[in-house]
Amino acid sequence: MNDTQILHINETCIDEALLTQAAEAITQNKTVILPTETVYGLGANALNSEAVNKIFIAKGRPQDNPLIVHISNMNMLEKCVKEIPEKALSLMHVFWPGPLTLILEKSNLIPSNVSAGLNTVGVRMPDHPIALRLIERANTPIAAPSANRSGRPSPTTAQHVISDMQGRVDVIIAADHSRIGLESTVLDMTQKPPMILRPGGVTLSQLQSVIPEIIIDPQIHQSVDSPRSPGMKYTHYAPQAEMLMVRGEHAEVIKKITHLMDEHKHIKTAIICADEHLQDYQGQHCLSLGSLANPAFMASQLFTVLRQCDELNLDYVITEAFVEEEMGLALMNRLKKAVGYKILDV
Ligand code: TXA
Ligand code: MG
Repeated sequence: MNDTQILHINETCIDEALLTQAAEAITQNKTVILPTETVYGLGANALNSEAVNKIFIAKGRPQDNPLIVHISNMNMLEKCVKEIPEKALSLMHVFWPGPLTLILEKSNLIPSNVSAGLNTVGVRMPDHPIALRLIERANTPIAAPSANRSGRPSPTTAQHVISDMQGRVDVIIAADHSRIGLESTVLDMTQKPPMILRPGGVTLSQLQSVIPEIIIDPQIHQSVDSPRSPGMKYTHYAPQAEMLMVRGEHAEVIKKITHLMDEHKHIKTAIICADEHLQDYQGQHCLSLGSLANPAFMASQLFTVLRQCDELNLDYVITEAFVEEEMGLALMNRLKKAVGYKILDV
């Protein structure tokens, strides 16, 4: 057990003394949970393998799942990678700082446990004042996976990280809720054409507006044994409840979900749906992600709603399916994992 220090830092008025404390913890190779615009990250000095090892221990993360390295300026990037291809550079100009992780060939300064033995490394510049200032002040890139216990939904509030990680890390920076609420897009620039390994905060069409040939890894739609992005193979985001997704024409979906809910009356159930459909499930316990008109907002609510399933001790949860376009693609990717790919087409 660590004696975790919780530092409350406000992003609009950063307390320099507290920030310095967190930065010193990083330079002392300790673990620091930091807010980013996507989800909270569990950070440590990316250039020190012992520090990085503490991340794996705190999360209970399998060693074959590589970490994303967070940087605050281009000099740091040069330290982390062998070369910066022209196309990667044009993406960085448009999307950094922001929710885009680029997979590039790694330099020798990146320890092999960061990249799980691969010769590539995922790097991103987060769009969050506290994260950027922390990296700048520590003056070292910070390796950081999402700050959840392995298998749990990624944390988007200080409360989520405190409940998952208190006692397991040295420092927690408790700040506001994460603005995007869902992880970065992971784009492999070492493949031709560049391939999206994980949909996230930057959408396919946004990326294609800069590099038209970018494609999506077909594997992201299925559950596979050895995906290109190692992290995609593990059970993720799964609440304790038995989960199911019902997909199809809406009238049929309502009928099926209502029928299944009736069959499970004796246990604690809930339906994950959109605002517009709340009226279709009267008498049922509904957890809405928000309006269909705002898929980015729905995506930002997903992890909170999945955690609510546990807080409410639900036994059986059925979710609607949503349109797999733009942020809806990332939302559905996480939702399908949460239901363990159990999808009923009606
Ligand atoms: O938004 C985010 O990306 C958050 C915040 C904290 O930055 N981080 C995050 O990290 O989601 P994590 O570790 O939970 O997910 C990283 C994903 C995993 O699926 C991992 O397999 C993949 O990125 N990844 C990392 N390095 C890779 C590499 N060299 N090649 C292929 N996939 C890689
Ligand atoms: Mg994660």
